[in-house]
Amino acid sequence: MELLLEGVSARHPAARPGATPAIQSLHLRIASGEQVAIIGPSGAGKTTLLQVLACALPPSAGTFHTGGLNPWQLPRRALQRLRGRLFLAPQVPPLPPRQRVVTSVLAGRLPAMGLWASVRSLFYPSDIPGAYQALERFDLADKLFERVDRLSGGERQRVGLARGLLSPASLWLVDEPLSALDPTRSRMAIRTLVDEAHARGVTLISTLHQVDVALANFPRIIGLRDGALAFDLPSAQVTRELLARLYDQYEHELRGEVPVAEVVEPSVPSQPAVMHCR
Ligand SMILES: Nc1ncnc2c1ncn2[C@@H]1O[C@H](COP(=O)(O)OP(=O)(O)OP(=O)(O)O)[C@@H](O)[C@H]1O
Ligand SMILES: [Mg+2]
Repeated sequence: MELLLEGVSARHPAARPGATPAIQSLHLRIASGEQVAIIGPSGAGKTTLLQVLACALPPSAGTFHTGGLNPWQLPRRALQRLRGRLFLAPQVPPLPPRQRVVTSVLAGRLPAMGLWASVRSLFYPSDIPGAYQALERFDLADKLFERVDRLSGGERQRVGLARGLLSPASLWLVDEPLSALDPTRSRMAIRTLVDEAHARGVTLISTLHQVDVALANFPRIIGLRDGALAFDLPSAQVTRELLARLYDQYEHELRGEVPVAEVVEPSVPSQPAVMHCR
């Protein structure tokens, strides 16, 4: 599914009216079957961009086309059909807590099923071997019949990703898929996503905070900073200097240092804060 953004701006639905858009005047073309990582500091607009690509958030300016269609000009049913052709994995997957893992994973198929088949599958899992195989790819096959609320955060995250393997989508949008995973499972999860997307000709777009993982696994890297495009390059051309500029000041903030311009001499000697406990 080809994606085309022309001068797209968008802001979170809960943002203050008149707030600066989280992404601003973005021009992007992502061809069908491409694999792209979106990196950038926290608050750069990565999730907002994924939401626009998922047809979940309308642009406040500019135009967005997916598969040659402007989703926001489609009739409601056609928009629903279009959404059924894409898979969005939020950072924290919205899994019903009392559901069995097998049912949660098979829910990836729902967009391709009719209403009755969907309802039936909630009570009688239709393809247990399929769910098992998807979970196996994420080292989670032993949790097939476990309840979702008895899983760790990283296990839930992998259930959310395993759903994608069962979905009929031709576009996978994955938001920070590794945030709760240990290094070994991170490598395994990202290789599974990349290899499967490649084998199926699915377009894969993932936001990532792990820059080394992005560079090692994705042929194209988009750097976002303050809602704007910092760079859009083949991974081999993403230099240390570009990365330093992308994360500059944010690293500074992470180290807990105060930017020079903000240092103000205190008029009275600062006193340590004292907490009294009764
Ligand atoms: N729930 C919200 N309510 C209001 N504004 C929001 C909300 N979520 C995000 N925003 C605004 O959108 C901006 C971009 O947020 P976004 O979630 O797209 O960033 P991000 O790059 O995904 O960050 P992170 O790496 O922390 O996930 C934020 O800086 C904030 O101004
Ligand atoms: Mg985000």
